[in-house]
Amino acid sequence: MTAPTLIALISQKGGSGKTTMAMQLAAGLALEGYRVALADLDPQESASRWAESAPAEAPFPAHVVRLRGSAGEMAQTLHPIANKVDVVVMDCPPSIEHPHTMSALDLCDLALVPVVPGPTDLWATRGIERLILDRRHSRPGLRGALVPNRVTRTALSADVLDVLKDFTLPVLDAALSQRSAYALSAVRGTSVFSLGRAAALAQEEVSRLVAAVIGLIEE
Ligand SMILES: Nc1ncnc2c1ncn2[C@@H]1O[C@H](COP(=O)(O)OP(=O)(O)O)[C@@H](O)[C@H]1O
Ligand SMILES: [Mg+2]
Repeated sequence: MTAPTLIALISQKGGSGKTTMAMQLAAGLALEGYRVALADLDPQESASRWAESAPAEAPFPAHVVRLRGSAGEMAQTLHPIANKVDVVVMDCPPSIEHPHTMSALDLCDLALVPVVPGPTDLWATRGIERLILDRRHSRPGLRGALVPNRVTRTALSADVLDVLKDFTLPVLDAALSQRSAYALSAVRGTSVFSLGRAAALAQEEVSRLVAAVIGLIEE
């Protein structure tokens, strides 16, 4: 029996796409045959509500667990499901000062940082990157990567994506574009994989994200 891999979606700001990526990634990993738990660390519980609003005939494909408190308390909450899941996707609160974000950094194997191409997200990303790199002194196995989100075709997007290369953390070879399918899947309580062919481009992006994450955790 091996312990599940813990993947945290983490960022300094709200609105960068933590919950969106957590839900799409959880569903995408489940489609690939992984047994997935979705851990909701955000007191606003948007991930839990998303999963709970799934239609009864098509439940969200990950078990949802609310995680609270210190890293030790979270580990205890996860203990009963530890041998029933392969991956735990952790959706963090929208602040790095929040104690749950610190607990996630103490627990996770992989920290994924969604970054929206724009100056404010870029500045905020410096802070979270420092935190992840600092944490590596005590937890050398901790991995981290930046994941562009809400990417558009503007020059600003291109410039910011270029600047991301100057960060120490690698930029994942995957990104989510700005697409209505992502917002729509939240309303429907599903992932883009349940939206049919109209969401084909979003499905391709999430599949690429899932493949990149699998590449990291199976290394
Ligand atoms: N790639 C995207 N395309 C379109 N809308 C998006 C995308 N990513 C996030 N959103 C929307 O932006 C808002 C904030 O995203 P969310 O995932 O809740 O961020 P966070 O959890 O980091 O606060 C939500 O309304 C969500 O539907
Ligand atoms: Mg959120």
